[in-house]
Amino acid sequence: MKTPQFIQLYHEDLAAIRQELLEGLQAPQAHTSPKFLYDALGSRLFEAITELPEYYPTRTEAAIFQAHGQAMASRVPPHATLIDLGAGNCNKAASLFERFAPARYVAVDISVDFLKNALECLQRQYPALDMVGIGMDFSSRFELPEQAGSAQDPRILFYPGSSIGNFTPDQALAFLKDVHRACGSAPGSGLLIGVDLVKDHAELQVAYDDALGVTAAFNRNLLPHINRLVGSDMQLADWRHMALFNPQDSRIEMHLLANRDLTVTWPGGSRAFAKDARIHTENSYKWTIDGFKQLLQEAGFAQAEVWTDAPHPAHGRFAVMWASA
Ligand code: AVI
Repeated sequence: MKTPQFIQLYHEDLAAIRQELLEGLQAPQAHTSPKFLYDALGSRLFEAITELPEYYPTRTEAAIFQAHGQAMASRVPPHATLIDLGAGNCNKAASLFERFAPARYVAVDISVDFLKNALECLQRQYPALDMVGIGMDFSSRFELPEQAGSAQDPRILFYPGSSIGNFTPDQALAFLKDVHRACGSAPGSGLLIGVDLVKDHAELQVAYDDALGVTAAFNRNLLPHINRLVGSDMQLADWRHMALFNPQDSRIEMHLLANRDLTVTWPGGSRAFAKDARIHTENSYKWTIDGFKQLLQEAGFAQAEVWTDAPHPAHGRFAVMWASA
């Protein structure tokens, strides 16, 4: 049996994190990056979100893979290196192993600690498959290390879950250009990506503000996380969750709203927030199929193939796209 190889490239720079957070908190419109939603508890709360009846993306995407996995397998190159971006528990990629028959599986996440258990279990199920876990932060720049394997072997870059929606369109374009480069030089390589589509606002609203309050907890959990990172004194009772659809930018926004006039302090600084003032904590962009195809093309990809949950793709709620490099 082979053993997975692990490489940790990301090293937390606490001073830089503190500076980024404090700059955001002091900006005229206070904001924080969505990456700070994912401490250990935040990651578990996100997993719980994916099981909520209102949060359609995860189960809709899974149904698309179920229904169209065979067609996808006929498009992607056989015996490729399957490179899983934001792999987490590796379940989504693992569900493709039988059909895609990859020669190598490269799981990328911010920390190899998240990947260890999952890869070791998977290796027992697939003893002959080369497996590599890479700990890297690809949120601002993405470049694969040589341990990912030769760029002359065919590659399937895999980015499911509509995580691309948490990038602004400019950031998404820059990221997709990096992904296009990472596809390497072998013919047939490409990107398999999950994209959440524009839809009825009411459906979006409840998906990001569920009746049980799990998304509210996910958003509010940011407060103790920031307190730990910068030494601030934000109190959970002072802030409430809000989700709203911004039609100009075609995105759901999450905010934290102050319940009263208050001042947040941290070592060396403070900021006053009036009642109902906001901290903007996440954008989740919703794309049209044509809009996303155009983005892929601008990033250098060839024509994309699209599968959705509807007989007519334009009516789908979610899309999975294969874009060959
Ligand atoms: C991870 N990402 C794709 C989720 C989304 O739908 O934008 C994060 C999330 N935020 C609130 N609910 C789920």
